[in-house]
Amino acid sequence: MTVKPIRTPTNLAAGRNRVPPGPKGLPLVGMALHLRSDPLEGMRQIAREYGDIARFHVMRQERILLNHPDLINQVLVIQHNKFHKSELTRRITVRMLGQGLLISEGEFWRRQRRLAQPAFHRARLNDYASTMLEITESTIRSWRDGETRNIGQEMTALTLQIAVRTLFGAALPEEARSVGRAMTFLMRYSLSRQRLPFRIPETWPTPKNRRANRELEFIDSLVYRIISARRAEGHSNHHNDLLALLMGAMDEDGTQMTPQQLHDETMTLFLAGHETTAQMLTWTWYALSQNPAVEARLQEELDGVLGARSLEPADLSRLPYLQAVMNEVLRLDPPAYIMAREVIEPCEIGGYTMRPHSTIIFSQWVMQRDPRYYDDPEAFRPERWLDGLANQLPPGAYFPFGGGPRRCIGEGFALLEAAIVIATLARRFRFRLAPGDPVIPEPLVTLRPRHGIQMTLHTRN
Ligand code: HEM
Repeated sequence: MTVKPIRTPTNLAAGRNRVPPGPKGLPLVGMALHLRSDPLEGMRQIAREYGDIARFHVMRQERILLNHPDLINQVLVIQHNKFHKSELTRRITVRMLGQGLLISEGEFWRRQRRLAQPAFHRARLNDYASTMLEITESTIRSWRDGETRNIGQEMTALTLQIAVRTLFGAALPEEARSVGRAMTFLMRYSLSRQRLPFRIPETWPTPKNRRANRELEFIDSLVYRIISARRAEGHSNHHNDLLALLMGAMDEDGTQMTPQQLHDETMTLFLAGHETTAQMLTWTWYALSQNPAVEARLQEELDGVLGARSLEPADLSRLPYLQAVMNEVLRLDPPAYIMAREVIEPCEIGGYTMRPHSTIIFSQWVMQRDPRYYDDPEAFRPERWLDGLANQLPPGAYFPFGGGPRRCIGEGFALLEAAIVIATLARRFRFRLAPGDPVIPEPLVTLRPRHGIQMTLHTRN
């Protein structure tokens, strides 16, 4: 396919001090109500009406929406040091994740990223492939032809198990299996607090606050116990998991992570990793069920390359259609559908001056459906990736894993895990939508189907 000519951003400022155009919204609340009912379409509408850079208010706070690859690339890559993660991201996650990679900043973040990076090198990731495969195969062993399952829940349970095993290894205390349940409660709790017009202080002994405290204490004490047990093992420590790699990581000056840092990083990897990958897989099964020709071509490729054996990391380069399917799922239903940054130093974006404390947002969902860059953008068409589209797109037009120095550290991990799960399941089953609730994308922390997706399993002969 041909890539459309790249246009320069529209509605850029002629003078330096003007503010970008945008909707006025209602008194006091601004665009809050408009965006609450359908944030994805709401953002797309603002971009269509006001152009590539638009300004509006939500509850009297300014938001600048970018909708052009060049402008997004300015924030993520070219001028990245003028921005921090947004206040909202920090508010939602800080209690659980402390100073983990997702939200830390500056020199502290740089050191943590340097220490954690080797754990995500390709050779290391390949070590996890057998765990990913083993858990996937044992999960579907009980699945039967004709039964109906909530595929969203199944994928979450699967990626949760993979996260627990790859982070903490196989020799886990029984109670560790409850970590996922506790984390899920805490994420929902934090997010729902942000949505309330008046926030009850976390110190008040309401049932939800009390449960949140209990779950936090449970996770903290478990993780610290695992870390101190490992430390007590000293050099006889032969664990082959992410925690062991983080514990062994040493900076140039010979320093290592403290127990608190290890706690924050393992919690961050756990949280950032499993929910996003679960949603990617859930949307994959939905897309395949709606596009039988794509499903058939994928199965043909898998059968041809793998025969009866399981996928190994080295097979990935020989499975271009599987990769194209994953790219297309991440384009149309990106689990991370929006990114936000706070301006920390005055700078210029699109000819406008950005002032400190302004919040800049840009959306994968909106940008990756932009007809200026994608033909027939609403259609699920993996073929578009087969003739080099990825190399022809300008930076900032496709960014399911973010970009610049803060690009997702787990990208390779997620793509390997997704490929293993898709290859294993697609060769055993076809999934078809069961009658029930309509499939509606709900943008929470990740983009997930509002009621899950009920699907009927059909065994392949
Ligand atoms: C399909 C799955 C995934 C998607 C779509 C995804 C998406 C993203 C995005 C968009 C960012 C950038 C956020 C920003 O700059 O504001 C990010 C950062 C991050 N992701 Fe992922 N992610 C996925 C899987 C994973 C996995 C499996 C892990 C860990 C095992 C992980 C760990 C992280 C961490 C630690 C960061 C922060 C990196 C830093 O700031 O240095 N992610 N991810």
